[in-house]
Amino acid sequence: MSLSRLHIDSFRNIATAQLQLGDGLNLIYGQNGSGKTSILEAIFFLGMGRSFRSHLSQRVIQNDQDKLTLFAHLEQGEQETKIGLRRYRSGETEVKINGDKVKRLSTLAETLPIQVITPESFSLLFEGPKSRRQFIDWGAFHTDKGFYTAWANVRRILKHRNQMLKSEIPYQQIQFWDKELVRYAEIVTEIRKRYVGSLNERLKGIIEEFLPQVDVKVSFTRGWDSKTDYQTLLQAQYPRDLAAGHTASGPHKADLRLRVGTLPVQDALSRGQLKLLVCALRIAQGKLLKQQIDKNSIYLVDDLPSELDARHRQLLLQQLSDTGAQVFVTAIEPAAIMDSLNTPPVKVFHVEQGRVTVIE
Ligand SMILES: Nc1ncnc2c1ncn2[C@@H]1O[C@H](COP(=O)(O)OP(=O)(O)O)[C@@H](O)[C@H]1O
Ligand SMILES: [Mg+2]
Repeated sequence: MSLSRLHIDSFRNIATAQLQLGDGLNLIYGQNGSGKTSILEAIFFLGMGRSFRSHLSQRVIQNDQDKLTLFAHLEQGEQETKIGLRRYRSGETEVKINGDKVKRLSTLAETLPIQVITPESFSLLFEGPKSRRQFIDWGAFHTDKGFYTAWANVRRILKHRNQMLKSEIPYQQIQFWDKELVRYAEIVTEIRKRYVGSLNERLKGIIEEFLPQVDVKVSFTRGWDSKTDYQTLLQAQYPRDLAAGHTASGPHKADLRLRVGTLPVQDALSRGQLKLLVCALRIAQGKLLKQQIDKNSIYLVDDLPSELDARHRQLLLQQLSDTGAQVFVTAIEPAAIMDSLNTPPVKVFHVEQGRVTVIE
């Protein structure tokens, strides 16, 4: 699966660009502030309806413009899908697939599985559990049809439950909702657990290459005490939840635990190693997706050379090309990437003040 044509209009400093993309490695280079990350961000925005850089989607619309437009052709074997997205400054978003309007943004995400690796990516290992949960759920969402609905129900019921707690509703009335919550929480947890299990198998070989002699263990924690059943726990914790005004335990607290021996990875590995670990996790996800549903991910790798030595750059590019995926890599100097490649990139683009030219 790959994007063959990409049209960007009024996105950050890119007024307009029409790119014929390569189905393998695409190298984008240019000086600081030229618009490299913006191109990756535009691809991500088309797939996810949001940015990986900013929570404020309005900010990506070019200054002085009232809307941005993104359009691409997606090739899957013989099949070609046209996807388009328009975002207005008013906040309204229009999404079209093959000319038909779609209501849910998740329809786009289903069509376009995107993996992002940026210099900020290794915050995955440092920040709170939210980003690690998103990492698990990316895989759960793409590989299990039932996940999205179950997770949406968990969120809906939790929101309602928390409102009831704030209004000090007695437990008898909350109990009815807890039954529903438990039902969906079990589905979500089962899918996540199974996914992390399969991911672990995929991850082993990649970690052996990236971090030989480091014994990294990845495990899943479901978000509440593993010995107690959720229904019993919700009832027992009601007084505490009531005092806090929200639900303390549950699938909204699930996490991925990464350890080297008994230490958390961030205490055991160097910055460069942590970065490689994040790359290994993302590559394992892409490979697993290919294995499970025969779909390739699209990789957006921003500022690849930073903090990786030449040998690891080469390893990473080799692993990425092994996935068979379409890959977009940015760098300030093209040589930093070119020198690490066994075969030349399919396409090379140069960006200068928001103008993109293809280098033949
Ligand atoms: N909404 C916007 N409208 C116009 N320009 C913008 C907007 N948002 C960011 N920019 C500018 O776009 C430029 C490109 O940024 P970026 O893609 O991060 O460059 P690079 O990754 O090549 O260093 C920056 O100079 C930034 O100031
Ligand atoms: Mg950048």
